[in-house]
Amino acid sequence: MNTTSHLLDVYSYLPFKPEAGEGVYLMAGDRRIIDFYGGHAVAGLGYGHPDIVRALDAQARKLFFQSNAVALDIREEAARRLAGFAPAGLERVFFVNSGAEANENALRLACRITGRSRILAIEHGFHGRTAAAGAVTWSSRDKWYGFPRTPFDIGFIPRDDAAAAERLVDDGVAAVIVEPVQGLAGAHALDAGFLRAIAAACRRHGALFIADEIQSGMGRCGTAFAIEESGVNPDMLSVAKSMAAGFPCSALLMTQALADKLQHGDFGTTFGGGPLASVLVSTVIEVIERDRLMDNVRELSAEIAAAMPLGPVRAIEGRGFLLGLRCDRPARQVLGALLERNILVGTSADPQVVRLLPPLILQREHVHALLNALADIGRG
Ligand SMILES: Cc1ncc(COP(=O)(O)O)c(C=O)c1O
Repeated sequence: MNTTSHLLDVYSYLPFKPEAGEGVYLMAGDRRIIDFYGGHAVAGLGYGHPDIVRALDAQARKLFFQSNAVALDIREEAARRLAGFAPAGLERVFFVNSGAEANENALRLACRITGRSRILAIEHGFHGRTAAAGAVTWSSRDKWYGFPRTPFDIGFIPRDDAAAAERLVDDGVAAVIVEPVQGLAGAHALDAGFLRAIAAACRRHGALFIADEIQSGMGRCGTAFAIEESGVNPDMLSVAKSMAAGFPCSALLMTQALADKLQHGDFGTTFGGGPLASVLVSTVIEVIERDRLMDNVRELSAEIAAAMPLGPVRAIEGRGFLLGLRCDRPARQVLGALLERNILVGTSADPQVVRLLPPLILQREHVHALLNALADIGRG
């Protein structure tokens, strides 16, 4: 227990303190650490990206903040760009501040619109730590949930079990919430047939399909959003993490049909859709498209996959830059050994899986550094 800090002692920190960041590197003293974790998938454009710094500086000087009490052209532009980047049919956007808040709104809307009180999620999924988002997070009630009851009834569908999905989705279900590539679970890409079976069952029973792309979206999986691979058209989609390059921002996207059911006062937020967040969302999308970063993700991800198994890694899971390296030893041990070699990776809920969530601007030399380090650890 740390008794010298005024911060709550709820995190076990990694053994270094970054003072600065540049590109894909974190600087700590005289160390330059290649960041394959990106601060939980947030540093999608790395650190100090010139377009981001320029946009932030210009907007901060011009208009630092205004709430949704007024219309802003830059907020409108961010929504237009985000809807254009998202799968077809998700035309309307509500900006909020965190992933959990976006999911909270999605779940509330689903219950309200359908008049139903049961939500289905997928085993091992993670959706955030607020009352509704935490309720649909796998094993939260055993670990940290804490509320005496959940806001709705909940059921969990076993991963990739299409028959179970067809059995569990019925006329009492308001929505099914799904991470197309489960992040915290250890980068598990859900089977496309499973996702389609859920979507078909939702359509048959009048339930809504919510894609949680908070971690898997914004180009991370090599497409704008991971759900695209399955051909499923979600009714709602939540996005956060790297969408404003590290500035707190999230969004809930929905179809026009759902948006038509909302009226003034149904949703609200103080900070959501502020000028700084808005200008950064537009800039992030512009940079991803201009610099063809999704091509970069697909190419380098394929190189990493082609090198496996390697060193302590037995198998690779996930997609694009949301990868899980299944190891022959505890992931914590591999993380420590890589960090000694100035490479930062993440862990996951699976104790054997190291998680990679690098910035989309990663280059081949960084991949080679990771592969060499893994080979070195294997020899050690
Ligand atoms: C898939 C997914 N959903 C929701 C969340 C919650 O987001 P936030 O921490 O911004 O509330 C996360 C965060 O890790 C996530 O990975």
